[in-house]
Amino acid sequence: MLPKLQLAVKSEGLASTVAEHLDQTKEHGPRLEAVFRALDAEPSSNLSPPVEKLAQHHDELADSFADDGLADFFHASAAATTEHHELAAYDVLLDLAQSVDLSDDARSELEHNRGEEAEALDRLRGELDRLAGELRP
Ligand SMILES: [Fe+2]
Repeated sequence: MLPKLQLAVKSEGLASTVAEHLDQTKEHGPRLEAVFRALDAEPSSNLSPPVEKLAQHHDELADSFADDGLADFFHASAAATTEHHELAAYDVLLDLAQSVDLSDDARSELEHNRGEEAEALDRLRGELDRLAGELRP
């Protein structure tokens, strides 16, 4: 979803937030692969059905806004919703890590990713506040 958002957003602040999180997420996959290796498990390339649905929902509505500010607010809210979902998934994984006695290094990889998701959500919330302020008459 992030590459599509990067092309769609008009606001410099939101574009910067999306671009930086896109760079961060490029490291998330390798970190998750390290966690799988620590568990002697094979990672899957299957996409998450909830995230696919969130992206589909975004794509269905993305072109329906005549106003750029409103469109950016919609893009930011879609991104924030996805970050909430990702944070919930990392919280469950971190709970599970305790149950399976995951190594500290592997746990650190999960915490690193979770921290970047939380940072992205904080920045998106800031963008949503700013964009909402610009939309008020
Ligand atoms: Fe994310």
